[in-house]
Amino acid sequence: MNVQSTDRLNGAPSPVSRHGTTDAPDTTSSTDLAMQNTILTPRFYTTDFDEMDAIDVTPVREDWDKLLDQMRSDPNKGHFKKTEDWDQIDWDGMEPELKKEFIDFLVSSCTAEFSGCVLYKEMKRRGNNPDICELFSFMSRDEARHAGFINDALREAGIAVNLGFLTKEKKYTYFRPKFIYYATYLSEKIGYARYITIYRHLEANPEHRFHPIFKWFREWCNDEFSHGEAFALLMKTDPKLTESFVNKLWIKFFLTAVYGTMWVRDHARPRFHEALGVDIEWYDQEVFRKTSTIARQVFPLELDIDHPRWKPTLRRLERAFTDLDAAKRRGGIAGAVGRMTAGARAALAFAGLYTIPSKRNAVPENVRLEPAY
Ligand SMILES: [Fe+2]
Ligand SMILES: [Fe+2]
Repeated sequence: MNVQSTDRLNGAPSPVSRHGTTDAPDTTSSTDLAMQNTILTPRFYTTDFDEMDAIDVTPVREDWDKLLDQMRSDPNKGHFKKTEDWDQIDWDGMEPELKKEFIDFLVSSCTAEFSGCVLYKEMKRRGNNPDICELFSFMSRDEARHAGFINDALREAGIAVNLGFLTKEKKYTYFRPKFIYYATYLSEKIGYARYITIYRHLEANPEHRFHPIFKWFREWCNDEFSHGEAFALLMKTDPKLTESFVNKLWIKFFLTAVYGTMWVRDHARPRFHEALGVDIEWYDQEVFRKTSTIARQVFPLELDIDHPRWKPTLRRLERAFTDLDAAKRRGGIAGAVGRMTAGARAALAFAGLYTIPSKRNAVPENVRLEPAY
């Protein structure tokens, strides 16, 4: 891990402490935002590191060595630095609703990137298996750069997230290793699909590029792509992980949860997507399509995102979450009742998505892919 990313992890990435006196009070609010643990906000994870350390990559050795060689060569070493392409942004002049949603987007992206960094770094620290430790050290190096780069952008607005504070104080959610594989594989691949879809859209419509960070997304998403490749190989070392009946149900669960969460979160930022010139339903479906196509490399099933019930049920899920949010803000007895009914509607909508028949997929013998979008 390079010095810069180590500083970002262990040092004080923000010059102000969350609870101390500060001349940039919003730094506290962005850290608070990143500290939230709800169904929809990015979490920090911990797992059974010994079990992961015991993985034997022999069955995928050839592909593994090629992927690790590529990561070792560190193609994006110099990428996450500001250049003359980094245009100055008038944060104070930004339309307030757009500013709020864009900051929410940056904080949530930074938290998600940093969540990967913390998990990967911990695996590297606890492990003894040289294959696993090397992989996780490369991945935590990349995620530290990603989180740090977003935080630099936030710092220009005077609202960096205090990542050191987050590491110590944010709640960690325990996931069994196999759930880490499904969830992390998907979040890496969906991260790739999200970044590349925005990048290609803004390449064709540069007038909508209202912040320079989007110019960095192409090389960035290639990092996420190769992280996803690593998890695909890890899953390939044990066929049960993707072939047993119960695990197929889990894979479907994670696909549904990850897609549903993305839909609800994106719809909470209408002004942000309007500024990008992006129709949210189009964008989300496009990202699901890319992710599902890529995931055929390892998942034996995919969600039917063209099923007649798919979009209407996602819309119901989104409305339930909007009402849940409103009920929380209302408080009191009416708020409590509202929360219960909206929560039940959200659960029903989720069940509605889960019970849409999935499409079967014959997983290819050769798992490796290259970014193609
Ligand atoms: Fe990342
Ligand atoms: Fe990643």
